[in-house]
Amino acid sequence: MKKVLLVVLFLLALGLVAGCSREDETPAIIADEVIADETEDYTPEDTVEEEAEEAEEIAVTPEVERRTIIMGTSADFPPFEFIADGGQGRHGRYSGLDVAIAVRIAEALDADLVIHDAAFEGLIVDLQGGSIDFIAAAMTIRPDRMESVNFSIPYFAAVQYMVVMIDDYSIESAEDLNGLYVAVQGGTTGYFFVSDELDANVLPYIRASEAFAALLGGRVDAVVIDSAVAQRFVNANPDALRIVRDNEAFGDENYGIAVRFGEYDLLDTINEVIAAMHASGELAELYYYYTEGPGAPQD
Ligand code: ARG
Repeated sequence: MKKVLLVVLFLLALGLVAGCSREDETPAIIADEVIADETEDYTPEDTVEEEAEEAEEIAVTPEVERRTIIMGTSADFPPFEFIADGGQGRHGRYSGLDVAIAVRIAEALDADLVIHDAAFEGLIVDLQGGSIDFIAAAMTIRPDRMESVNFSIPYFAAVQYMVVMIDDYSIESAEDLNGLYVAVQGGTTGYFFVSDELDANVLPYIRASEAFAALLGGRVDAVVIDSAVAQRFVNANPDALRIVRDNEAFGDENYGIAVRFGEYDLLDTINEVIAAMHASGELAELYYYYTEGPGAPQD
């Protein structure tokens, strides 16, 4: 019975993402005040005020400890999660669309958000071990991962892109990677595709940035990585890199937030937060904010 419900939810959610990608093409420009307001919510002063309010309550009620919620991520994936320049991120050092969603989740739970930045490849094991409460890491919803974790409704649609040197015209399709050296981030869909579907020499790196460094340093011929991240690195190196698409070879992907099995309350909250952020247009606005708007990482 639960399974049926999950499948129905999932199908509903896919419809949601289909709608979302349409909006993504024409993202509304976010009003400055909206961002200012949101940022204000997380200034240290507010936290102190909130704590003071809570302290009053504690005086009359027995001890209430403020809950902490830990997001696991791999902060090497702009615009979804990255270390903000000068520690001016939306959440201390960290910034990006996933961080913004996590802030909303923490808000809904009335909890403090803590960010655990680790290798992408180890995040599911970290979640199972209990050192983090959820994964928000541009993680693609995949059947093999669904054997280890529960995913939220999808919140972003993606595909894999190839990134090559700007003057390399030998690569025009995924098949052209056969026999070449290809850098990927370990444990990602890009890694699975190159190692399972191609006859290429795959070099898995712990951090996505290391895969791009290998390409720029001439140690590999291409990087296979998620579309939005590829786009952002090419935009940052417009004279050196270019994107090669092969939408027939690479399948459509959807990102979800992962929780441990059995954490149905947390999953419900996360799904409500995503659905609300989608319905209000906030997700599309934030995507624009972190890709082309003032929240984009500075190079
Ligand atoms: N979407 C891809 C996957 O799930 C890559 C995600 C990498 N995320 C990151 N934060 N580095 O495998």
